Amino acid sequence: MQLLDGKKTSETILDEIKVEVDKILQQGKRAPHLAVVLVGNNPASETYVGSKIKACERVGFKSTLIKLPDTIDEATLLNEIKKLNDDTTLDGFIVQSPLPKHISDSKVINAISPDKDVDGFHPENVGRMALSMPAYLPATPYGVIQLLDKYKIETSGKHCVVMGRSHIVGLPMSLLMVRNTTPGNCTVTICHSKTKDVKKYTLQADILIVATGQVESVTADMVKEGAVVVDVGITRVPDATKKSGYRLAGDVKFDEVAQKCSYITPVPGGVGPMTIASLLMNTLNGYKRK
Ligand code: GUN
Repeated sequence: MQLLDGKKTSETILDEIKVEVDKILQQGKRAPHLAVVLVGNNPASETYVGSKIKACERVGFKSTLIKLPDTIDEATLLNEIKKLNDDTTLDGFIVQSPLPKHISDSKVINAISPDKDVDGFHPENVGRMALSMPAYLPATPYGVIQLLDKYKIETSGKHCVVMGRSHIVGLPMSLLMVRNTTPGNCTVTICHSKTKDVKKYTLQADILIVATGQVESVTADMVKEGAVVVDVGITRVPDATKKSGYRLAGDVKFDEVAQKCSYITPVPGGVGPMTIASLLMNTLNGYKRK
């Protein structure tokens, strides 16, 4: 079994981005600029946003954090988004999810200008991705693709089973794996909450990508010998032995599944850091497109 080390791989990508940014700055041009909108104070979101801002600093991007109260009304948030769309000093921005219940996710996503949508969530970018046209790819699935690519995992003709159909991970992940690209060219099965006998499908997976948010629910008996297992789950589970009071758990029972597979991502240190690297790559590409 070999680890798919997202931490190390993402650091290599960040180093490569930094080299490009240094060249840009040496030419006397402005730095790429990412803005992050955080509504409310969900602790996990605060951590993710903090990591994104820190990564910007590391590669030499300019970053702007816009913190808004969770009492903000939808119209005011949409107006903030309009300002960011119109800001010519900005290459891209994201609105961290989850959003408070009184705000419509789809209204927010639709309000983001597709050319600044470095999260790749706008219907125009999702459609372009599905059709293999140039698009911002959503950060988490794109991170998984880059990880498979860096480890030279053969995907063509393989059976990829994606567990989960969320708009952020499962659905775009399945599209990226089925496209006529490298990595890609898989036969793809999507399992979700209404799938009957999930194990029947997961046992057929050469590549199993798990994004259900169900803590440690994928067990060794569900995985084929020699499979490649990618665990997108990252849930805070209360743990009194930790200083923080919690540990981070994936969707896969790592210790038992690792014995069976050829490659597996750890949690933390697997897909999570790759997500951030992808977001920065999208931002750099947005900058270059201008
Ligand atoms: N919440 C969980 N993942 C993501 C992501 O990739 N982007 C945003 N904006 N919010 C998220």
